[in-house]
Amino acid sequence: MKFFIDTADIKEIAALSETGLVDGVTTNPSLVAKAGGDFIATVKEICKLVKGPVSAEVTATDFETMLAEGNKLAAIASNVAVKVPLTPDGLRTCKALSDQGVMVNVTLCFSAAQAILAAKAGAAFISPFIGRLDDVGQNGLELIGEIVQIYGNYTDLKTEVLAASARHPIHVVECAKIGADIVTLPPNVLRMLYKHPLTDKGLEAFLADWQKTGQSIL
Ligand code: E4P
Repeated sequence: MKFFIDTADIKEIAALSETGLVDGVTTNPSLVAKAGGDFIATVKEICKLVKGPVSAEVTATDFETMLAEGNKLAAIASNVAVKVPLTPDGLRTCKALSDQGVMVNVTLCFSAAQAILAAKAGAAFISPFIGRLDDVGQNGLELIGEIVQIYGNYTDLKTEVLAASARHPIHVVECAKIGADIVTLPPNVLRMLYKHPLTDKGLEAFLADWQKTGQSIL
């Protein structure tokens, strides 16, 4: 399973890319607003830091303007994935950009039916939002399972399932069990994945015992 980082914070992306675990980045208008700074310059900078797909979202809602915005974003770097919302105009934009060879991430997906439409429109990625479904009392992980199963029925289908709106490590582990292609992680969730109290306790004991030997490896 690939890990994307869900932030527009350049410092965070630079720090986390040093882990060697980051395969891409997702941003959205809210994350850009939170990080501050110029959007185009931010996307350019992120694309230099991370070689994998970097999602940058259009903000228009009509086809013509979305397409123009999408082309502008795609021109920033070859690893930009233009993000469009799951609306009729968004999917029309997805089809047009995909036909031009541009990677498109279809976002704000909350149903399997929507995911089928995105795949038909040639999306490189479909982003079902797990956490936001959980927030309204629906099961976000069930949707990931449904989409993985449906896409798995069509071997020629190239759309990858990018599980978004992940809130905690259990979402990540369950997505891996289900077979999601990618999960996008807020920086704090990626950091949480490392943690286990027995790891900390075990390391503390090993280091204390090692000190007693009086030796040094280097
Ligand atoms: C990423 O592509 C999504 O925009 C993001 O994961 C949404 O996360 P949120 O539901 O925590 O805002």
